[in-house]
Amino acid sequence: RTVYVNGSYLPETEAHVSIFDRGFLFADGVYEVTLVLGGKLVDFAAHLHRLHRSLNELRIAPPVSDDDLLDIHRALIRQNQIDEGLIYLQVTRGAADRDFLFPDAATPRTLVLFTQKKAILNNPVAERGQRVITIEDLRWRRCDIKTVQLLYPSLAKMEAKSRGADDAWLVRDGFVTEGTSNNAYIVTRNGTIVTRDLSTDILHGVTRHSVLQCAHDLQLKVEERPFAVGEIGEAAEAFTTSSSGLVNPVVEIDGATIGDGNPGPIAKRLRHIYIQRSR
Ligand code: PDD
Repeated sequence: RTVYVNGSYLPETEAHVSIFDRGFLFADGVYEVTLVLGGKLVDFAAHLHRLHRSLNELRIAPPVSDDDLLDIHRALIRQNQIDEGLIYLQVTRGAADRDFLFPDAATPRTLVLFTQKKAILNNPVAERGQRVITIEDLRWRRCDIKTVQLLYPSLAKMEAKSRGADDAWLVRDGFVTEGTSNNAYIVTRNGTIVTRDLSTDILHGVTRHSVLQCAHDLQLKVEERPFAVGEIGEAAEAFTTSSSGLVNPVVEIDGATIGDGNPGPIAKRLRHIYIQRSR
């Protein structure tokens, strides 16, 4: 694989980052994961917009221009012949002597991108539906910033796996915030799609935005509000959205079946429409 690091395209085995990088020492960095379908970037402008928002919140200056970022994404798709998969981008505050205070603003930021070939459309878990557990949301209170601080979601996903589930939904004060790496939805028995409203409690998903647009166009009812764990068992269906999972049905929560235990019609329809729109 060819990867990008600080201005160079290199074989992955030759790409290096300093041990003093603040991404490594302080998780002082942000990232984006963009979907590639048919060799094309999906919703790239929205990812750029969110990247700038994350950088701005952490007071990290953008390392290169947006045009350069687009060029780098396209070059990696071409060089690695990515038809279907993901592109990972990370920006950190750069390498400096270890200090809680930020280094001088002139310190070069670290910019890394790499591709991941992955079957996105043909996803066996989406076919059968995900089994999810609920777990307390112990993340920091700025989940709207896409930082590389992913230890808690990683622990939560491992806990899900050890309990025979696919993923975890995070819960704060009895209400679901989101999944470990996706936004969370239920569909009520009267057909209303419910997902938590945008705030500092959740990541503002690029897929969430597009899928809610699809729902709107289909004249489906949507409520953006927190939903309680107790509402999930009463729901007709449930699903998640993310760049890697698209619209991904959920059929079981904490061992209890949701609806009839199969991926629901609204989730399936939204998955289909979202895919049509994205390629
Ligand atoms: N995860 N919520 C969280 C906590 C996430 O990490 C993600 C993305 C999402 C969905 O956002 P989007 O629709 O923009 O992908 C929601 C990425 C895919 C990851 O960490 O791999």
